Amino acid sequence: MYKIGQNKSLSMSAGCIAGVVMLFLTLYAIQSEAKSSFSLKEGKSCATSDCHSNMGKDKFVHGPVATGNCTFCHKQDKKNVHEFKPITNVGEVCYACHDKLHLESVVHKPVKEGKCTGCHSPHQSGHKFQLLGGGQDLCIKCHKKTIISGKVKHGPVNDGECSACHSHHSSGFPNLLAEKGNDVCYSCHTDKKAEFASKKHIHAPMKTGCIKCHNPHSSDYKFTLIGENTKGVCFACHKDKHKEISEVKVKHGGLELPNGCLACHGPHTSAFPKQLAMAPMDLCLSCHDREYGKGDKKVSDMKGFLAKNKITHGPIKDKDCSGCHNTHGSKDFRILRGNLSPAFYAKYDPKNYELCFNCHNDTLVKDAKTTTLTGFRNGDQNLHFVHVNKTPKGRTCRACHDAHATNNPKHVRDTVPFGAWQLPVGLVKNQTGGSCLPGCHQEFKYDRNNKVNNR
Ligand code: HEC
Ligand code: HEC
Ligand code: HEC
Ligand code: HEC
Ligand code: HEC
Ligand code: HEC
Ligand code: HEC
Ligand code: HEC
Ligand code: HEC
Ligand code: HEC
Ligand code: HEC
Ligand code: HEC
Ligand code: HEC
Repeated sequence: MYKIGQNKSLSMSAGCIAGVVMLFLTLYAIQSEAKSSFSLKEGKSCATSDCHSNMGKDKFVHGPVATGNCTFCHKQDKKNVHEFKPITNVGEVCYACHDKLHLESVVHKPVKEGKCTGCHSPHQSGHKFQLLGGGQDLCIKCHKKTIISGKVKHGPVNDGECSACHSHHSSGFPNLLAEKGNDVCYSCHTDKKAEFASKKHIHAPMKTGCIKCHNPHSSDYKFTLIGENTKGVCFACHKDKHKEISEVKVKHGGLELPNGCLACHGPHTSAFPKQLAMAPMDLCLSCHDREYGKGDKKVSDMKGFLAKNKITHGPIKDKDCSGCHNTHGSKDFRILRGNLSPAFYAKYDPKNYELCFNCHNDTLVKDAKTTTLTGFRNGDQNLHFVHVNKTPKGRTCRACHDAHATNNPKHVRDTVPFGAWQLPVGLVKNQTGGSCLPGCHQEFKYDRNNKVNNR
């Protein structure tokens, strides 16, 4: 017996013509051995024009088969009877000539079990290495076709190149992969590796693997994602957000746009916290730089508004629109993070000013007399109390203040919508107080140090 590598001259990959030539040469040389174990017809190959006539004729013929001597592998059961012992130990048969395969830690099950003929014909085939199929056809003999039958197929799978990622005999990595984790992906998507590494914030599942979101083979969704790219793939993990967003009373139009979550979040990495596509306030203003809707449904141009009103409210100075708005929707008017009465009048109830009291002290409107709780007072008379703490016609915060920005100090509006009318507020401030000449009453003055008698 010979070992591969020591006798390269036996190479049969040149095909069947070389095979037939060699067949006769070798047959002659091994006649004596053949005599002892093969006696159907002395000196004749099993592959004749009558018997096993196709043997040796396919494109790729296995070396020993090309010699026509079948007894390298097939042992006769009884002398002179055309019966051969079934080959039950395929692996051993192969290793009789071939060096043991150099196997790494993860071994493909059929290889481990010596089922070499699960992939290689022991005789011949139309494929190199006497394989039983080309490209993915070989693999799909045993593996479920469903892994590649998704509507969208990954580039290499589309080309039938399972071997672009998987080893066939064994590998050092789980799933017989050529490399570990995301490195498999980066071996082709080299640009992505650099792109992702350049960003500061990395979405958690990126660390555990691209395959958490992308099927490496195929799927029914764009980019072989595990769900539709706009929302479905996100909800696969963010189940709590799915619930929150679908149950919420006041929905944010920004989530209903065609690109779903991706309108604001990058799926992979970001230069900003929370996977945001831009700095938070820039993000809001990238859409809210125009008017949406009409009439009652109108949503005004916030970017334009902020450009015209220079005294901005604390959270906006901090560029934190989310301090007051919940971008994913809310139970409250204008997706606010707390109730704020949208009306001009409301009965006194701290719940009507919940939003403001998330950050400000509610004592502001509680006591009729104070010298500390608010600057909106005439002597010790709390003017916040006067206006707000009334039932039924208490003024809401919104009646005097704008939550975003004003050109007046203390975020007091120039005007406030009152039905169809823009009612003027008419505040003029000075060091110790000020005066108001609103659409509601005659001019009243207030002074914190020396109480003014307005009547
Ligand atoms: C009697 C010896 C012998 C046995 C047994 C044997 N082979 Fe081979 N095999 C060869 C020879 C000779 C070649 C040709 C070597 C060459 O071209 O370098 C070969 C080539 C191959 C090749 C192609 C390798 C290449 O580099 O082109 C594969 C694949 C192969 N054999 C698989 C098997 C499998 C699977 C079995 C078991 C079913 C097996 N062999 C059993 C002798 C044997
Ligand atoms: C390198 C070893 C090897 C050689 C040489 C070899 N066979 Fe086989 N043969 C096998 C193995 C292994 C099987 C069992 C196949 C399986 O496990 O699927 C087999 C099976 C067969 C079968 C059963 C049907 C089939 O195709 O599975 C026939 C018939 C056969 N061989 C004929 C031949 C003839 C004729 C020759 C000589 C021209 C020959 N074999 C040479 C290894 C060999
Ligand atoms: C799951 C399919 C599969 C099984 C099972 C399998 N092989 Fe292979 N084998 C391949 C493929 C695919 C190639 C071709 C690799 C390439 O294209 O470089 C190959 C190549 C070979 C080669 C030639 C090139 C090399 O890597 O040396 C030999 C020899 C070989 N196999 C022997 C075996 C033996 C022996 C067994 C059983 C212990 C076996 N194979 C089991 C798929 C398989
Ligand atoms: C002869 C049948 C057969 C063929 C052909 C075959 N496989 Fe397998 N493969 C198996 C079996 C059996 C397992 C083990 C499955 C299990 O444990 O559930 C397996 C497991 C795998 C695994 C998972 C390995 C692991 O460690 O988890 C991968 C990946 C794989 N095969 C890829 C391929 C590729 C790629 C091909 C084509 C080159 C291929 N297989 C061809 C039978 C086959
Ligand atoms: C782009 C790389 C890549 C290509 C190409 C590829 N695979 Fe995979 N395959 C993977 C990765 C990564 C895994 C691990 C998936 C996991 O852990 O969920 C895997 C897992 C598998 C598994 C085991 C887990 C399972 O899903 O059953 C099988 C079997 C498999 N692949 C077969 C194939 C076949 C067959 C082909 C060719 C049609 C192929 N692969 C092509 C990357 C690839
Ligand atoms: C063997 C090379 C190769 C490997 C490895 C590879 N890819 Fe690809 N990938 C491609 C090719 C080729 C395309 C098709 C590109 C095209 O059509 O522009 C593609 C396309 C994609 C696409 C769709 C891109 C688009 O613009 O439509 C995604 C997503 C993707 N791959 C993710 C992955 C992931 C995740 C992995 C690791 C599991 C991976 N790839 C591994 C070669 C590879
Ligand atoms: C959290 C889920 C998720 C993870 C993890 C993920 N992706 Fe993606 N990927 C997406 C989504 C969603 C898209 C679609 C983007 C779009 O529609 O613009 C996408 C698109 C792509 C594209 C095509 C579009 C483009 O940006 O070029 C490639 C290539 C890609 N991903 C590669 C990868 C690689 C490589 C990894 C691992 C390092 C990975 N992805 C990890 C969700 C993910
Ligand atoms: C495979 C699961 C998975 C998928 C799919 C997924 N995420 Fe995540 N995401 C996570 C995990 C885990 C975290 C970290 C959670 C934590 O820190 O509480 C996270 C965190 C986030 C964060 C907060 C980041 C931070 O810095 O606090 C955002 C925003 C986010 N994901 C958006 C998305 C979007 C948008 C999609 C769809 C394109 C998506 N996720 C798909 C698992 C996933
Ligand atoms: C209109 C812009 C926008 C859209 C669309 C959007 N988000 Fe967000 N998302 C944000 C902002 C802004 C934050 C940061 C909120 C904060 O700082 O409190 C955020 C934060 C998150 C967080 C981090 C946890 C949290 O609530 O702070 C997750 C997870 C998240 N988003 C998931 C999603 C998912 C899933 C979708 C799609 C259904 C989506 N987002 C759509 C703007 C958006
Ligand atoms: C991708 C575009 C987009 C982004 C980014 C965006 N929005 Fe919106 N927003 C919209 C659309 C569209 C509407 C609905 C307009 C309509 O009703 O026609 C809307 C409505 C609103 C409303 C009114 C809600 C109502 O029901 O009355 C508020 C308040 C709002 N957005 C705040 C924000 C804040 C704060 C951010 C940043 C965290 C933001 N938006 C980011 C597109 C966006
Ligand atoms: C201090 C809380 C607060 C902050 C911070 C805040 N908002 Fe508002 N926002 C409100 C309140 C309250 C309303 C309802 C106002 C009303 O109807 O008078 C509102 C309404 C809106 C509306 C609807 C406008 C309309 O037509 O009435 C948009 C759009 C909006 N905000 C965007 C933003 C953006 C963008 C930011 C960040 C630049 C932001 N908001 C920051 C409290 C806030
Ligand atoms: C997210 C927290 C937050 C919310 C909600 C909030 N504010 Fe403010 N507010 C601030 C911060 C921070 C300042 C700046 C404080 C400073 O500069 O000392 C401020 C300042 C003010 C000032 C000016 C104070 C001064 O002394 O200059 C007024 C008036 C005001 N807020 C009214 C309101 C009203 C009315 C509401 C409800 C519509 C509200 N705020 C909701 C955080 C908030
Ligand atoms: C009738 C008009 C009016 C109403 C209604 C009103 N405010 Fe004011 N508020 C003012 C004026 C005027 C000032 C400035 C007083 C000064 O500094 O001279 C002010 C000042 C403030 C300040 C700065 C700190 C302070 O107390 O001096 C805060 C905070 C504030 N208001 C919050 C609120 C909240 C919250 C509501 C609703 C519960 C509200 N305001 C309702 C007119 C009003």
